[in-house]
Amino acid sequence: MDANIPDHSLNIHTVSAQIEQNPAFGPAQIRELTGTFVQKSIEVYSLTQYWHLHIGTHGEPARIDVVDGLSKMTLDVIGLAGFDYNFNSLSPDGKENELNEAFNTIFGSGTNGASLLKFCRLLFSPLVAVNKARKIMRRIGMHLVRQKKDDILMNPGLNKHSGLGQRDLLTLLIKGNMDPNIPESQRLSDEVILARKSTFLVAGHETTSNAVAWALYALSIEHSMQTKLREECLTLSTDDPSMDELTKLPYLEAVVRETLRLHPPLNNTSREATNDDIIPLSKPYIDVRGNVHDHVKIDKGTMIQIPILAVNRSKVIWGEDALEFRPERWDNVPEAAQKVPGTWGNMMTFLGGPRACIGYRFSLVEMKALIFTLIRAFEFELAVPQEDVVRQNAAVQRPILRNAMDKGSQLPMLVRPYQKT
Ligand code: HEM
Repeated sequence: MDANIPDHSLNIHTVSAQIEQNPAFGPAQIRELTGTFVQKSIEVYSLTQYWHLHIGTHGEPARIDVVDGLSKMTLDVIGLAGFDYNFNSLSPDGKENELNEAFNTIFGSGTNGASLLKFCRLLFSPLVAVNKARKIMRRIGMHLVRQKKDDILMNPGLNKHSGLGQRDLLTLLIKGNMDPNIPESQRLSDEVILARKSTFLVAGHETTSNAVAWALYALSIEHSMQTKLREECLTLSTDDPSMDELTKLPYLEAVVRETLRLHPPLNNTSREATNDDIIPLSKPYIDVRGNVHDHVKIDKGTMIQIPILAVNRSKVIWGEDALEFRPERWDNVPEAAQKVPGTWGNMMTFLGGPRACIGYRFSLVEMKALIFTLIRAFEFELAVPQEDVVRQNAAVQRPILRNAMDKGSQLPMLVRPYQKT
């Protein structure tokens, strides 16, 4: 079927096309960025340090909302890896830079309030504070785009802000856009580049932080799995593993897969048929008149829901234990799952086809680096009864407490430093 996503102000098809031509998300680029993810999670103002500050000096467990720290962390990572910009969200003195403050004003009192939906609404909000924040984001964003262009023109080999060596996404996008082979009429304006940049910020930040939050949730319920994963991660003697080293940890891989199957950050999406079409069925059905059908007819303009969560959790596909968190299932993927047309991992989490997630490799490495670092440093236990944690669907699936819905997304845990016995 020839389908496409409906037009909206944040659609980023052109940027995807640019990235396909100039892939910032290929394995080689992601391999080079692994250092940023790992470094960010262990360096001075990092998440481990940030949580250690809450825990105090005596090593007792502290009650910590892990969503808050993870959200700040992934914002810092996408800022650095995506745009060569440091949001400094994890700064221990709580001082935010101007852009981070503006981002928080737009998305609520913490970055964990961000969502595509909220973002779209607030883009047009008449509130004075939001309007001011929007102007700040625009001014700084535009400055970054222009500064980046100047840097590229003046010094093609250098990236002075992060030392990433011009591997950040914005640089690749601008470089691709400056390619003399691209006709003038097809070049993106600075305004459009700025809009794409904002989309990446939102698409790449909350999805990953919530996925890691759900992984910690699952591991805090299944302690034996947490221990098994920690033991595997501790087999590496380095705090700073390469992407290849992370890829070779089979249980980490299985935990990430199982998290993304059972807790996909986006639970569904939709497409609109751009032409009349016919979808063949793997199993024919019989209608009320007794007629057998082996296809479904789709009219142009029909909206089609893609039920990501339902496919990922289908008992027909995954078996009777489909609703259980069981990383071991990845040792033996059921035949039915092998036919799921997802772009990665026999699941629909990143969708499939030409409009699938283009950041999935980025996200997988980031998730692994984060979980690797955190599970080696800390032990996690849910600070509330398991049944109090429910899923809130606000563009992204977030954990929220049944009896504190008004407080927004949170996942309180008792976090204690891991001490080798
Ligand atoms: C666990 C993390 C992630 C999940 C589950 C996820 C999932 C998805 C899904 C389901 C879509 C398709 C949405 C639709 O068309 O309705 C999508 C699109 C997209 N994602 Fe991700 N994503 C994740 C992380 C990331 C990251 C880290 C980035 C960027 C660094 C990113 C960038 C994008 C972009 C740019 C698109 C739009 C692609 C297009 O329309 O051509 N995503 N993502």
